[in-house]
Amino acid sequence: MLTEDQELFRRTVREFAEREIAPVAAEFDEAEAYPADNVRKMGELGLMGLTVPQEYGGAGAGAMEYAIAMEEVSRACAAHSVILTVNVSLVCEPIYKFGTDEQRSRFLPPLASGQTVGAYCLSEPSSGSDARHMQTRAERDGDHYVLNGTKNFITNGGVAGVYLVYAASDPSGGQICAFLVEADRPGLSPGKKERKLGIRASTTTQVFLEDCRVPLANRLGEDGDGFKIAMLTLDGGRIGIAAQAVGIAQAAYEAALAYAKERQAFGHPIADFQGLQWMLADMHVRIEAARLLTYQAAQFKDRGLPYSKEASMAKLHASETATWVTTKAIQIHGGYGYMREYAVQRYFRDAKITEIYEGTSEIQRLVIARHLLRS
Ligand code: CAA
Repeated sequence: MLTEDQELFRRTVREFAEREIAPVAAEFDEAEAYPADNVRKMGELGLMGLTVPQEYGGAGAGAMEYAIAMEEVSRACAAHSVILTVNVSLVCEPIYKFGTDEQRSRFLPPLASGQTVGAYCLSEPSSGSDARHMQTRAERDGDHYVLNGTKNFITNGGVAGVYLVYAASDPSGGQICAFLVEADRPGLSPGKKERKLGIRASTTTQVFLEDCRVPLANRLGEDGDGFKIAMLTLDGGRIGIAAQAVGIAQAAYEAALAYAKERQAFGHPIADFQGLQWMLADMHVRIEAARLLTYQAAQFKDRGLPYSKEASMAKLHASETATWVTTKAIQIHGGYGYMREYAVQRYFRDAKITEIYEGTSEIQRLVIARHLLRS
């Protein structure tokens, strides 16, 4: 399905990820440390602004290249790739798509170059799946809005230079707006870094907004456009998470395959046993199916076709595949798979979040079913 250029691009990203990211992934996971140098290097390679047009400092690539890059970075380390995907598809893309020329010129170049990263602030302590029912409010005061509320589980919290914050501008909460809030704007403060099961090198925090005055010039789109911006943005983001899940699953499968050929039991490499062969075959088939669904969604996006259902299908299947494949990869490794020295336990811990963030599997099924019932 890939063109020669896309194959070449995959090789370039793979070589980069194998050289710069894979060797340090376990260390950053163990230390729960943010990989600032590697984020800068991903920026130098053009990955942090992959789909941003060149005039705003990006690489001007399409959704297919983005899926390929996400797959390859995730094959090395999913914590690195979540930093990348939030920046590219949840922050840069809506700025380009819904921003004014002034907003594009002001915000995109530093984000696209990896000089800083963006964060996407939709979820709240009491609203995750039910994203529309947020408590954060944006009260209009002349040519400013005053933001108050708390955002939850914010990837890149504490390290981001720009926060894309959703808040309702009416007391009933129906009129949602999107705002670009700079990290140093008084009234915005990130909470402490959350301690997570996986993707531990990425930061996740709450974000507090306390009488945070944001100029009208920082509102993305019109008053009341916010929910549609949030949903359209997540459609693209879900392709990124699908590709992330494919990359994690691929890494786990490759580790399991290598181990099965090397490990001896009952006088044979364990790969000689049919029970394991069937596991490897199922892992491979499921990963290929997830990859094809992901590329299909990316191609729909690149061709300008509606792709919301395709993105949800890809994310649903790929994330459940990643959890299943990484579980089997540990099983093939036996007791060693449970040990922290082996990478498969990291893949297993990292895989689980792909079934939760950017919409749980239950939400993906709901989105898919709504499309089916409407058609
Ligand atoms: N594209 C464009 N418009 C859309 C849309 C889409 N994909 N989905 C919904 N809309 C529009 C609808 O057409 C509707 O418009 P009208 O009012 O004009 O009719 C409006 O938005 C409301 O839509 P719904 O009635 O479908 O809204 P809902 O309240 O029933 O919820 C939902 C829809 C699909 C459940 C949505 O709330 C959702 O996706 N929830 C999950 C949220 C989520 O994914 N959060 C992830 C957090 S971000 C994250 O994880 C980032 C990270 O750090 C990695």
